Amino acid sequence: MDRNLALEIVRVTEAAAIAAGRDMGRGERDHADHLAVEAMRHRFDTIDIRGTVVIGEGERDEAPMLYIGEKVGGGWATGDDRSPKVDIAVDPLEGTNLCATGAPDALAVIAMAMEGEFLNAPDTYMEKIAVGPDCRGVIDLRESWTWNLERIAKAKSQDVRDLTAIILERDRHAELIAEVRQAGARIRLIGDGDVAGAIMTVKDDSGIDVLMGTGGAPEGVISAAALRCVGGDMQARLRWRSDAERERGRQMGVVDGDRIYQLDELAMGDVLFAATGVTKGYFLDGVTYFGGGCRTQSMVMRSESGTVRVINSTHRAKPSKA
Ligand code: FBP
Repeated sequence: MDRNLALEIVRVTEAAAIAAGRDMGRGERDHADHLAVEAMRHRFDTIDIRGTVVIGEGERDEAPMLYIGEKVGGGWATGDDRSPKVDIAVDPLEGTNLCATGAPDALAVIAMAMEGEFLNAPDTYMEKIAVGPDCRGVIDLRESWTWNLERIAKAKSQDVRDLTAIILERDRHAELIAEVRQAGARIRLIGDGDVAGAIMTVKDDSGIDVLMGTGGAPEGVISAAALRCVGGDMQARLRWRSDAERERGRQMGVVDGDRIYQLDELAMGDVLFAATGVTKGYFLDGVTYFGGGCRTQSMVMRSESGTVRVINSTHRAKPSKA
């Protein structure tokens, strides 16, 4: 995949973050999401790709834009078959509640791979464990959380008591939280945003060693794309809420609904990832506005080179014509 696409997709996440950031703290999560979706959708047209949304805002009948199967990118209109055919995973506003309340780590996110290289995850839940490069190959979702914490501690030459797990604060995690506490590790509970949580496991200064627990399946694939770029590791299994969801998964190509996926089964091949901070967080700065413009902070990564770029941008509003 053309490496310059990484710098193209960051413009798309910037546009979404700038649009949604205006709604920070207004308590209107759906409106903020709508702003991000619209901005992202329109910016895609400026990129010379023939993209298909494989992880998006939902099914066609429930999402007007960026729905699963939607074709995006300028390459479709020109009909130029040199324009690459790519699959796109988007989360225009990851952490709608975080944006609505001004809490840390709301993000605008895109991952891109060549056609057919993302798991086409249905909109259900996914149990996940994610770690940084120093713990690659040591995790196993078939084993207990305690077993995993012990293996992570060993790989890091640390005591389990020194580890910090990041976990979504949900009732469904009562047993997980109790087990992690019993094992002696520390916990950071987050209200939302397990994509940022997964990426924090690879950031040296985040103090986070592992993401554990169940969150959205689409977010799981996006997290896997990010971890692929920086050599982290992740395992996941779909957690269905109903037989109807399982059936929907079957229609989308999930043959074994109980399979444990390895990192490179969630996001294969050459992968690009871009995220722009909407609210200031542990991962990225949020959007700040000033008279005549705004500033954003983004992270762009490529799996092929392992390059990670943090991009601080100043955006100036176009002067209005006299
Ligand atoms: P939204 O941006 O769609 O609100 O998702 C936020 C999020 O916290 C994700 O990061 C996480 O994967 C998922 O929701 C968890 O789902 P739920 O809130 O239903 O437990």
